Amino acid sequence: MKEKLSDQLIQRILRKDVTVGVIGMGYVGLPLVLRFCEEGFRILGFDVDSKKVAALKRGRSYLKSISSSRLSQYLRYGNFDVTDDFSRLNEPDCILICVPTPLTEKMEPDLQYIEKTTEAIREHLRKGQLIVLESTSYPGTTEELILPQLQSIGLKVGKDFFLGYSPEREDPGNEQFKTHQIPKVVAGVTSSCQKVAVSLYRQIIQKVIPVSSTRVAELTKLLENIYRSVNIALVNELKMLADRMGIDIWEVIEAASTKPFGFSPFYPGPGMGGHCIPIDPFYLSWKAREFDFTTKFIQLAGEVNVSIPYYVVSKVVEALNDRKKSIKGSRILILGVAYKKDVDDARESPALAIMDLLQKKGATILYHDPFIPILPPFRKYLFELKSSPLTRQLLRRIDCAVVVTDHSQIDYQWIVKNVPLLIDTRNVTRNLKKWKKKIVKA
Ligand SMILES: NC(=O)c1ccc[n+]([C@@H]2O[C@H](COP(=O)([O-])OP(=O)(O)OC[C@H]3O[C@@H](n4cnc5c(N)ncnc54)[C@H](O)[C@@H]3O)[C@@H](O)[C@H]2O)c1
Repeated sequence: MKEKLSDQLIQRILRKDVTVGVIGMGYVGLPLVLRFCEEGFRILGFDVDSKKVAALKRGRSYLKSISSSRLSQYLRYGNFDVTDDFSRLNEPDCILICVPTPLTEKMEPDLQYIEKTTEAIREHLRKGQLIVLESTSYPGTTEELILPQLQSIGLKVGKDFFLGYSPEREDPGNEQFKTHQIPKVVAGVTSSCQKVAVSLYRQIIQKVIPVSSTRVAELTKLLENIYRSVNIALVNELKMLADRMGIDIWEVIEAASTKPFGFSPFYPGPGMGGHCIPIDPFYLSWKAREFDFTTKFIQLAGEVNVSIPYYVVSKVVEALNDRKKSIKGSRILILGVAYKKDVDDARESPALAIMDLLQKKGATILYHDPFIPILPPFRKYLFELKSSPLTRQLLRRIDCAVVVTDHSQIDYQWIVKNVPLLIDTRNVTRNLKKWKKKIVKA
């Protein structure tokens, strides 16, 4: 009897005799590429951005977390190639989709990237290929959006080709967990799809968690992000109350964290940022409407988190006022514009909202961020600014500095010593009590 295509593919995966295609050479796609390269797989990367493709072909990384030398090594060995020619999508045996899933202006899922990618795969789909969506999206995306498209050419899922979903859990900037150490949830549209997808990920990830359907896997990712969004909102709301009550929320969290069970600390900040937490929950709210359901926690967390930059700005205004200064005409230095510490990514960063609000009130804005030398244009904002070098002269010329991102390499003690006023949204001044008259927590 002829061996099933799924068994054939699994056998080849186990022998590492497959080419893995990764679509989207970004924060998610590129670490995956390297992980497969490390395990000796042939990799073909795809991206619509020809500048990224050209950089990668020259062995040049554009992500801080990935060194150019690692890329060059795999290019030299000849097991990594990258292209913007999507007609080559028939070459890989396994295709992982890592394209963006942002929101539209109306805060609804912008699925154009998944749709375009599906269309490109459909045009070149051949028997025996495995396709896995890794991009974050609402439950039903794989089965409702991708599956009908791919089956429309007459191939049958689970028999002729295999389709699955496996959410990415990359945590940029976190040195504690490498890609292979982060357990991976994997689902298939049919049981043979699941078997093939699980066998592929087992080659590169220490622990794979198979789940019963792609919807379960899709909602798992959203639960993880909504959990963070809601808890960050909760602690941000309590921060504002604690401030009014004259209590230091950071001390409260530290004390509560000594409880050995039932409490996971979340920390307040200047608002939420990044490509995931501020965006993904709205994929679920949108889908929930189809079921006549309102996701109240998501809405509420969104409202609170969006209001935090306004709170930070109000603290700046108040602190300047206490020093007989007005915000209009003041020079304000933003310390850190990345959405979190030690990353080179400013997408959806609360720094952008804070800078915009301060500018609208008449302040002159400067920023310093060792990871973001120039501020590129963003979805909602355009600042034509470059990172100012941190000098004593600069610190003495400004009216106020605002710590928005707590990058590790910044010497906050030296900064406090030299600025007239420091607004601290990250508790970087916890041990700098000597200068407390100059410090305002926000
Ligand atoms: N960045 C993270 O920390 C993270 C973590 C977990 C999940 N995710 C999810 O992973 C997905 C990708 O996120 P990212 O941060 O890697 O995005 P990214 O913007 O860094 O990378 C996406 C890449 O896809 C390319 N691209 C866009 N359209 C394409 C198309 N039609 N065909 C081929 N390439 C295309 C872009 O040029 C870009 O290089 C999103 O759904 C995101 O929510 C991101």
